[in-house]
Amino acid sequence: MSTIESVLHETRIFAPSTKFVEQANLADIEAYRALCAEAERDYPAFWSKLAQQHILWHKPFTRVLNDSEPPFFKWFEDGELNISYNCLDRHLANQPDKIAIIFEADNGDVNHCTYRELYQRVCQFANGLKALDIKKGDRIIIYMPMRIEAVIAMQACARIGAIHSVVFGGFSAKSLHERIVDAGAAAVITADEQTRGGKNHPLKATVDEALSMGDTDSVKSVVIYKHTGVDIAWQNNRDIWWHDLIHGKQGECAPEWVNAEHPLFTLYTSGSTGKPKGVQHSSAGYLLGTMISMQWVFDYKPTDIFWCTADVGWITGHSYVAYGPLAMGATQVIFEGIPTYPDAGRFWKIIQQHKVTTFYTAPTAIRSLIKLGADLPQQYDLSSLRLLGSVGEPINPEAWMWYYTVVGQSRCPIVDTWWQTETGCHMIAPIPGAIPLKPGSCTLPLPGISAAVVDEAGHDVELGKGGFLVIKRPFPSQIRTLWKDPARFKKTYFPEDICGGRYYLAGDSAHRDKEGYFWIMGRIDDVLNVSGHRLGTMEIESALVANPLVAEAAVVGKPHEIKGEAVVAFVVLKGQRPHGAQASEIAGTLREWVAREIGPIARPEEIRFGDNLPKTRSGKIMRRLLRSLAKGEEITQDTSTLENPAILEQLKQPVS
Ligand code: WT7
Repeated sequence: MSTIESVLHETRIFAPSTKFVEQANLADIEAYRALCAEAERDYPAFWSKLAQQHILWHKPFTRVLNDSEPPFFKWFEDGELNISYNCLDRHLANQPDKIAIIFEADNGDVNHCTYRELYQRVCQFANGLKALDIKKGDRIIIYMPMRIEAVIAMQACARIGAIHSVVFGGFSAKSLHERIVDAGAAAVITADEQTRGGKNHPLKATVDEALSMGDTDSVKSVVIYKHTGVDIAWQNNRDIWWHDLIHGKQGECAPEWVNAEHPLFTLYTSGSTGKPKGVQHSSAGYLLGTMISMQWVFDYKPTDIFWCTADVGWITGHSYVAYGPLAMGATQVIFEGIPTYPDAGRFWKIIQQHKVTTFYTAPTAIRSLIKLGADLPQQYDLSSLRLLGSVGEPINPEAWMWYYTVVGQSRCPIVDTWWQTETGCHMIAPIPGAIPLKPGSCTLPLPGISAAVVDEAGHDVELGKGGFLVIKRPFPSQIRTLWKDPARFKKTYFPEDICGGRYYLAGDSAHRDKEGYFWIMGRIDDVLNVSGHRLGTMEIESALVANPLVAEAAVVGKPHEIKGEAVVAFVVLKGQRPHGAQASEIAGTLREWVAREIGPIARPEEIRFGDNLPKTRSGKIMRRLLRSLAKGEEITQDTSTLENPAILEQLKQPVS
């Protein structure tokens, strides 16, 4: 059964235990409702109060929301602050020796870094960046392993007002190149290699390849963190070792005060066209979102050991590794490796060893761990856990129940958090002491977040009916624009033809049940969610047709037990349709080709060959049909408009 089908039958409810409620930051539904009512009563006053409570301002703001040029909203616009100051300096007075990061390497080595040490290391590196003549507003690409240095690089950029753009270490040279060019980056920060699951993978060599692809003159420096010590190619006057850059630099660096709306970072994400979108976030509004969600959704306590397993290459790793936990002064675990190395008990072992209290991961990881060892968690002491979290895709109730009973021992609420790269922080998620849970539902919007399910005209649909998921009012942590492309920003998120461009369109469909709980049904655009990562079908299609063998390609998703969704590619070759061993060989070549062009996460699960694709008489590819074929369903749709029905037979079977 697919996730969507199984959530439709879900009726169980799980209220938090008395013990959880007694310690919760927000302990009953009335407290939640009171906050929602406060936001309702005076929206600017609600956000203004939170922004004053949570953020340390260098210059206080006097204006809360400027909505004079929708959808380009500004929050706290005349205020000034520094994000790194808010994450580090603020803890120096009262808790300099508190551990900020417990780092566990792929090979199991553990290092601790206190707030004072982190502050010094960030300052040193920030001074290094300044020595490279990097200035406020410059864009810096970070292509790093999941190690403390990745966070240091991000925080150092924030400290000097440079705009970072982290590229996940699994992305290919071509994807990296695309992002470097779009950002017009002044520098790239990388490492010689990264290590995951006992294997080393090149990073610097990939940067070299990306920088040889043209249009990269903006890049003046490449900073390389020495991790594995492997030999790397070197370009004098451009390349510099991390350790040489910080050598002799001061452990103090005055923060660059920036305007509240100064871009903290851009982060690229897939959309319905072939070109990734550079989602641009603000400084103050973004930080506020990460802090209030730490407080509300993660019920943050100073005694917590917080662990978000996401890589800093994704928004989850930005908000709940690099910024939110540090701003709150939390102790957090950062893990370099993968859940299945050296065995499928790795996560549970880390929780036991570091006494993790709050554990936040993705449904795909949970499903793969169930498959590899459903009873493994019982071999570890997981009694430190008090709260579990899920993110990235709907969690199927079966995985939810296992997570709840086996990992959380029926003691820990699960916060199923719906949000996006564009929203910066959780939008719809339970406040765990206040809101009873239903497996597979992300429950209710956070206070101040006007999430709704509407029809094309923008009217709320009846409870139980599906519609577009929108957020009606602007909120502080939302995307400000797409880097250098305000027109695409407007068209994508505030399209005229849906709700008249008035509401933020999330790109998901959803429905609400009788109690108003939200159930996410999937994307409304040509975007797939593979293992919690967004992949544009067009991007994969472009990669396929870039191969000299391929004439035409169409990509769709099909339900997958572990990944949630898997990539299925229908391909027409320039020559004859291949058969037998030749077909398998070409399919293998094309799968690897896509992995190299985009990154291994985009590698198609299946490739099918046809003499043509199913098209209407006007030449439009019938994706609906392809989706049914990929799922192995009987074709019940109307195929009367199909020009070439015979090819459906050809496309039924995957190449073995
Ligand atoms: C898309 C956003 C937010 C960080 C990770 C992914 C899907 C995300 C959930 C959830 C159902 C979810 C949506 C959304 N999604 N969380 N809890 N339940 N669906 O960030 O790459 O920007 O993807 O992920 O489809 O639109 P992203």
